[in-house]
Amino acid sequence: MANEDILKKIIAHAKEYGFVFQSSEIYDGLSAVYDYGQNGVELKNNIKEYWWKAMVRHHENIVGVDAAIFMHPTIWKASGHVDAFSDPMIDNKDSKKRYRADVLVEDYLAKIEAKIEKEVTKAEKRFGDAFDKEQFLATNPRVLANKEKMESIKNRLYPAMDEDDLEGIKKLIEDLEIACPVSGSKNWTDVRQFNLMFSTQMGSLSEEANQIYLRPETAQGIFVNYLNVQKTGRMKIPFGIAQIGKAFRNEIVARQFIFRMREFEQMEMQFFVRPGEEMKWYEFWKEERKKWHLSLGIPESKYRFHDHEKLAHYANAAADIEFEFPMGFKELEGIHSRTDFDLKAHQEYSGKKLQYFDPELNESYVPYVVETSIGLDRTFLAILSHAYTEEKLEDGSERIVMKIPPVLAPIKAAILPLLKKDGLPEKAREIMDTLKYDYNCQYEEKDAIGRRYRRQDAIGTPYCITVDHQTLEDNMVTIRERDTMSQERIPIDQLSSIIDKKIKGN
Ligand code: GAP
Repeated sequence: MANEDILKKIIAHAKEYGFVFQSSEIYDGLSAVYDYGQNGVELKNNIKEYWWKAMVRHHENIVGVDAAIFMHPTIWKASGHVDAFSDPMIDNKDSKKRYRADVLVEDYLAKIEAKIEKEVTKAEKRFGDAFDKEQFLATNPRVLANKEKMESIKNRLYPAMDEDDLEGIKKLIEDLEIACPVSGSKNWTDVRQFNLMFSTQMGSLSEEANQIYLRPETAQGIFVNYLNVQKTGRMKIPFGIAQIGKAFRNEIVARQFIFRMREFEQMEMQFFVRPGEEMKWYEFWKEERKKWHLSLGIPESKYRFHDHEKLAHYANAAADIEFEFPMGFKELEGIHSRTDFDLKAHQEYSGKKLQYFDPELNESYVPYVVETSIGLDRTFLAILSHAYTEEKLEDGSERIVMKIPPVLAPIKAAILPLLKKDGLPEKAREIMDTLKYDYNCQYEEKDAIGRRYRRQDAIGTPYCITVDHQTLEDNMVTIRERDTMSQERIPIDQLSSIIDKKIKGN
């Protein structure tokens, strides 16, 4: 199935089963804004909890905060967002479509990379076991020519981006003869900078109103509270502050469902360290975050690190953890060594000292910061797209099953009386009443049992528990496992430990 088709199917499935709806749908929607439905909100909450436990509970030197979305406008001046948080945009005069100019070039580079990969696959088939990939990549003339082409494009793109050379970027697009994906035309406007922050007014009287911004990252709420937390929590460096919250960006190209949204959520952690020790902690957090992803049971081959060649204005090292989404490998999480850029800037703009007194060194300094920043919605999409499975069964029928990691599944168990009579619903409700305080359970008595199984498969429920006439005599139920569809008869009092084991499996 083509990758685009898979994404379309996931979007349709997410809507049909109450995971994600287009915002304001009855008014024809709002571009790049989405609402989470009854199953989506459970999955989202479970991801948040899984991250929070791993970052805050499992690290004694990390605590959390929940800062406001509105912040003093000078914060965004100090952080560099007012001056530098912009993307170069370009319009196609024929289709009237707007693009990020650097993304047009990045997409062009991705196409060349895909050509190289195709060459490798072809050669792999041709040479079989004797194939030496490294040697092939180092010697094949077509691969070498493509690599050289990529290098020369990067050598023009990155300096042009660094130096805000908008004419240079346009010239590159023209020289590469990049066409608009919609109209196919090469009739481009000039490249212009577009600031991504949303702004609004605070204050009721227009003459007194202040322009403020909706935060484009949650990190600044951590930076400006770092001394409050350090002092009140008696934290000693190295220590971290974590936060989950909404962020807003007026993205130029908002596409690919919940991958790039204008309102989204981030799960960020700033780790405050001694100056000079940041690289050690940067490597530590790269490894630690990779472990977190793998603990969800998704194969390692779905992830890769991408080290940044072009660094953000605040970083001295940065890497993305990329995930293989239906549209290819894309950024899921960023790990950044942010130096002392933010704290120093806030110290300067606020006029308040933001130094930490290190009792072991007997000196004061502005700490360096290593940040881990993961998009909650992107994690949601990664989980959803990996989980989506179409299966042909032995009897010739088909099912769609969401193989969501059990710890994240919206519903952990469905309690299903076989019939709506003979005391079976009452017995099923009894089970529901004992399990529902520990796990999110769903009681369902409508439709034939097979259809109810399919509905639970489609939302990723790890266990279906069926109550039948025999249950009334022996207090045993049938428990059906989602992925294998295997069924087992077990005593009711073992249900809790079975579900628990499955959820805590990783
Ligand atoms: N504080 C650092 C920071 O915000 P970023 O790379 O711009 O860094 C971090 O964003 C993460 O936030 C990304 O890896 C991505 O998962 C998520 N993210 C960024 N922009 C997004 C958008 N428009 N829609 C959804 N998620 C987004």
